[in-house]
Amino acid sequence: MLNDIKEVLLSEEELKTIVKELGKKVTEDYKNKNLYMVTVLKGAVVFLSDFMRAVECPCEIDFMVVSSYGSGVKTSGNVKIVKDIDTPLEDKDVLIVEDILDSGLTLNFLIDLLKQRNPKSIEICTLLDKPSRRAADVHAKYIGREVPDEFVVGYGLDYDEKYRNLPFIGVLKPEVYTK
Ligand code: IMP
Ligand code: MG
Repeated sequence: MLNDIKEVLLSEEELKTIVKELGKKVTEDYKNKNLYMVTVLKGAVVFLSDFMRAVECPCEIDFMVVSSYGSGVKTSGNVKIVKDIDTPLEDKDVLIVEDILDSGLTLNFLIDLLKQRNPKSIEICTLLDKPSRRAADVHAKYIGREVPDEFVVGYGLDYDEKYRNLPFIGVLKPEVYTK
């Protein structure tokens, strides 16, 4: 598995620091709110589990499963809800917790959908941001780190369902997904 990694982009230590910083900001902003974190399975699960413990105000968590048609390393924009949340959002300050904001097509779809349920507020917290690839007009209020336009894996992020268990974030060697 390690042989497939070109370089380490964010080490375990760096990830800890980033998660702490994000937790501090969110704690400050949400201490008088009704924080409801919505996470899209599966990539953001590792981040969520650390991040929620860095948040020091009350919160709830929930999960959604979406699938964007087409496999490989790009999102198609055709997003389908596979598992929805079944809690009303009217009294909730929704924070979407994501692993990586890439084209933004997935989150664009999700934000539109959840806004129709009239949450008190809705924001995005993403561990990684690849702004160079944005195709939809989506902005995350909380961003861990910007990353270059390379395919990254680890700390929950996968290629073909693998590499999620790497404790760091690394760049995948292109020959792994071009062969
Ligand atoms: P978007 O709709 O293009 O923003 O896609 C976001 C989703 O694509 C993320 O939640 C990831 O699951 C996946 N993704 C995008 N870029 C990467 C990457 O570099 N590594 C692993 N997964 C990625
Ligand atoms: Mg994925």
